[in-house]
Amino acid sequence: MNSKQRDIPAPCSSAAWEVQTVCEMIDRQDPRDVYLEIGSNIGGSLWAFGRHMTKCATLIAVEKPGARGRDPGGALEQLQGVADRLEAGCGYQPRIVLGDSHAAETLASVTEMLAGRKIDVLFIDGDHSLAGVTGDAERYLPLVRSGGLVIFHDCGLPTSGMKSRVIRQLTACRSVWAKYAADRRNMLIQEWCGYGMVWNGVPAGRKDGQDER
Ligand SMILES: C[S@@+](CC[C@H](N)C(=O)[O-])C[C@H]1O[C@@H](n2cnc3c(N)ncnc32)[C@H](O)[C@@H]1O
Repeated sequence: MNSKQRDIPAPCSSAAWEVQTVCEMIDRQDPRDVYLEIGSNIGGSLWAFGRHMTKCATLIAVEKPGARGRDPGGALEQLQGVADRLEAGCGYQPRIVLGDSHAAETLASVTEMLAGRKIDVLFIDGDHSLAGVTGDAERYLPLVRSGGLVIFHDCGLPTSGMKSRVIRQLTACRSVWAKYAADRRNMLIQEWCGYGMVWNGVPAGRKDGQDER
């Protein structure tokens, strides 16, 4: 582990180039004051993407606790550590919602935290089943502002050597992304499992600076 890696409180479960490209797309969003992430695990993407939001931005992380709320592997503790560091060291306003993203009370908690604001960047990386990704998109996409960036993880094409479980997840995430990407400004990048992006309400062919607000 080199000194740069030691400074990362939690690694993001993606290829570095993929993360960097998504970060560049987040940097181009204006405004970028409200971030919602579904599926945070140990906080890798919260750290990687959250720090590309404006200082003081609200960063909401939804994560489903283990059975009976247990945290056997210490993932929630790590996630809390990332949130603490974002708040203390960087001035962000991280908020962790522990719950099933599909549950009505989780949506209600997120809506309450938004306090009437719309989401500028939404990242969907929770339940990777077809029903799970579909449900997350249907619940949380209406909370995204027009022109806001919606990011789906694991949208790439299967490559040789991938396990059948991973291929199923990629196929599910890609099909949901493709549904929202049709006729909208979109981007699909892949080095490993890939990210699919959609600019909410922005017709295909629009460029930066032409986003609808
Ligand atoms: C692939 S990991 C997320 C990785 C993280 N976004 C990153 O890139 O560093 C998926 C996470 O989603 C969580 N998850 C799965 N189903 C969920 C649900 N229904 N509601 C909330 N979180 C869920 C899992 O517990 C797991 O931590």
